[in-house]
Amino acid sequence: MAHQWRGVIREYFDRLDIEQDSPIITLGEGGTPLVEAPRLATLVGAERVLLKVEGMNPTGSFKDRGMTMAVSKAIGHGAKAVICASTGNTSASAAAYAAAAGITSVVLVPDGKIALGKLSQAVAHKAQILQVRGNFDDCLDLARDLADNYPVHLVNSVNPDRIEGQKTGAFEVVDSLGFAPDMHVLPVGNAGNYSAYFKGYAEDLAEGRIKALPQMWGFQAEGSAPFTMGGPVKNPETIATAIRIGNPASWDLAQNARSVSNGLFGAVSDKQILWMHRFLSQEVGVFVEPSSATGAAGLYKQSQQGADLAGKTIVVTVTGHGLKDALWALKDEDGNEIAPTSVSTNADEVAESLGLVRK
Ligand code: F0G
Repeated sequence: MAHQWRGVIREYFDRLDIEQDSPIITLGEGGTPLVEAPRLATLVGAERVLLKVEGMNPTGSFKDRGMTMAVSKAIGHGAKAVICASTGNTSASAAAYAAAAGITSVVLVPDGKIALGKLSQAVAHKAQILQVRGNFDDCLDLARDLADNYPVHLVNSVNPDRIEGQKTGAFEVVDSLGFAPDMHVLPVGNAGNYSAYFKGYAEDLAEGRIKALPQMWGFQAEGSAPFTMGGPVKNPETIATAIRIGNPASWDLAQNARSVSNGLFGAVSDKQILWMHRFLSQEVGVFVEPSSATGAAGLYKQSQQGADLAGKTIVVTVTGHGLKDALWALKDEDGNEIAPTSVSTNADEVAESLGLVRK
């Protein structure tokens, strides 16, 4: 009989920090596919590479895992409104879960720097959207300030409920594989998700579900790479707008995760991100937004720089759906627009334009 996935809170209730009688606001998040990517494994010289496809969540990104926790707890505490700063995905998720809960959402986004699909989601779910004349880091400062002084509940990942929910990504990887991968690779912006996966694995280790932690490998875009620069970046720039963040909120948690797991941080160029974005679509069959290709791009770069991945099993979280920021797919490697060829309804002409030879 088909099993209906019940969302991460119900599936992992005993392993989450949530009161027994808490309300549960869920859209059925989690339970996302772990997809074998053999051609990516060959590309990087690993035994196996698997993608944790987080674009399959209800609002199309991993944020829903944390948002079900944050909004459920906000409702439990009597909140009537939630607020977040966002590069797009957090706002889409907060807006959807607030709609499901019947409360108001306020989202602060950097002016002109969020993908259209994500903005549409926030509008669709009736968020109060304010475009702030500043970058994400400015938006987060503002959101914290407002939550401190006004009756709005903060649902950014500085709220530990978000990280708590997102750690279920690691639980699912271990439940599917039956063991921890050698490396777990992620794109890094605010470093909340990187820290959340580490928390999940660390709990699995403490409870004896796995024998060792995976090395946590986190990658940023070169133009906004505070972890490889060693400190905040003032004017972060990258086409990967989701991770255009110069001052990561989870800095300390992420540094600890990197060091305890013997992991690493790296940076990749926008060109490398877009190359991997295309590779994942064309060679793996998984369409992600550009930011989400950053982890796999970093893995490839490491392999090119000599990392020996022979015999390794590697999980890469691809964080958001390609449809959120779809226009990148309609450009070729040189940035030229790709448009479908226009044809008549004549089969011979269509065959000719496809280069087909009659049987
Ligand atoms: N990938 C995507 C698609 C994201 O939207 C984000 C973050 C990240 C990766 C990085 O995750 O911040 O936990 O290190 N997006 C946030 C937002 C900042 O507002 O939607 P992180």
